Amino acid sequence: MNNIKLIGPFKQIIPMTGLSLKGPITDDQLTVWEDAGILVENGYIHSIGKYIDVFPKAEELKAEIIKLEGNHTCLPGFIDSHTHICFGGTRANDYALRNAGKSYLEIAKTGGGIWDTVTQTRKASQEELVKGIVKRAKQHLKNGVTTIEVKSGYGLSIAEELKMLRAIKDANASISADLVPTCLAAHMLPKDYPGSASEYLEEISSELFPILKEQRLTNRIDAFIEESAFSKNEIAPYFQEAKGMGFDITVHADQFSTSGSKIAVEFGAISADHLEASTQKEITLLAKSNVIATALPGASLGLGCNFTPARKILDAGGALAIASDHNPGSAPMGDLLTQAAILGTFEKLTNAEVLAGITFRAAAALNLSDRGQLAKGFLADLSIFHTHDHKEILYNQGAFKPCVIWKNGGVVFDKHKAP
Ligand code: NIG
Ligand code: FE
Repeated sequence: MNNIKLIGPFKQIIPMTGLSLKGPITDDQLTVWEDAGILVENGYIHSIGKYIDVFPKAEELKAEIIKLEGNHTCLPGFIDSHTHICFGGTRANDYALRNAGKSYLEIAKTGGGIWDTVTQTRKASQEELVKGIVKRAKQHLKNGVTTIEVKSGYGLSIAEELKMLRAIKDANASISADLVPTCLAAHMLPKDYPGSASEYLEEISSELFPILKEQRLTNRIDAFIEESAFSKNEIAPYFQEAKGMGFDITVHADQFSTSGSKIAVEFGAISADHLEASTQKEITLLAKSNVIATALPGASLGLGCNFTPARKILDAGGALAIASDHNPGSAPMGDLLTQAAILGTFEKLTNAEVLAGITFRAAAALNLSDRGQLAKGFLADLSIFHTHDHKEILYNQGAFKPCVIWKNGGVVFDKHKAP
């Protein structure tokens, strides 16, 4: 039996449709449906339009009518295209040390940093990791994020990376948000690995990649290109192998030094993320390519360093997604809307550009074409705010939370009914 629902009337629906994937977007390019409704069929949007026009259709189809009282504004469910929410332990000590003057890389050299989380994650059972992911993903969902990318990368051995990716799969089965897994076994050369970086990467690609395919644990491969992690020469054969096997590639690029974005372009990566250190040269290169440039303002806020040059990326004609990078080290906050709003303030992004960065442009960063916009055939993932005007959302810089969230055509969070 078909499951058909009409939700509305909304004071505003911002469908994020008809906008270009690349380059600047002005606020007056945003489509705003006023006094509108959404007809949902079996989890997908059937039609969207003026409530008085959609209502007769809903009656004809014997739809369940979900009538809203008061002013509500509806956006697509937000998409966080870059997180590391599968981890054990905490790095509160690193944060304190950074604020007392030590650098991220200095801390990593003296026992903190990514390796500290690897040690703590290896100690955790798969079940404990699942609990942590579910707890964090639920928080993201309450903030309107209905799709969350989650990386491995704190296991750094075949068995431990598998444990993380299986935990992400288990967590995905037990929560309403969609989790998109990514293998980040190339996060750093594990300190206990007896061979060279190239040998480690060779082992991962020849032994782990086939298992990832066989067990459908992920179709995405990420690597951290940085002086403290992997170089261009080390990563090239690894990406070559991944591409050959049909994996999508994404890169931690230009965080402290440049070179990652060039590799991302050369290998046709889906996205290049971070880019805090990118200069005009890298920006131009990215803008000319099909790589989605992803800003991670949560890492800038966590490390106290400059933001990704988002304005310059857009002005050069690039596609800009915005993600939280939620992780225990560089980005502990994990509040996408707050971070995106703050990036908008510092980088002078229009509301339309910020919203694009966490909706359809973020969907493109995950190679997903079924979400990020509200239009016929798209998933009915909705972030609903109690306001008459969408501008109130970013204006409140994340302090204003959604009141109702829909995922796949059903309510998964309702503030009024929340415990
Ligand atoms: O995206 N830059 C590398 N990786 C993560 C940080 C991981 C960590 O500090 O634990 C990032 O910021
Ligand atoms: Fe990251």
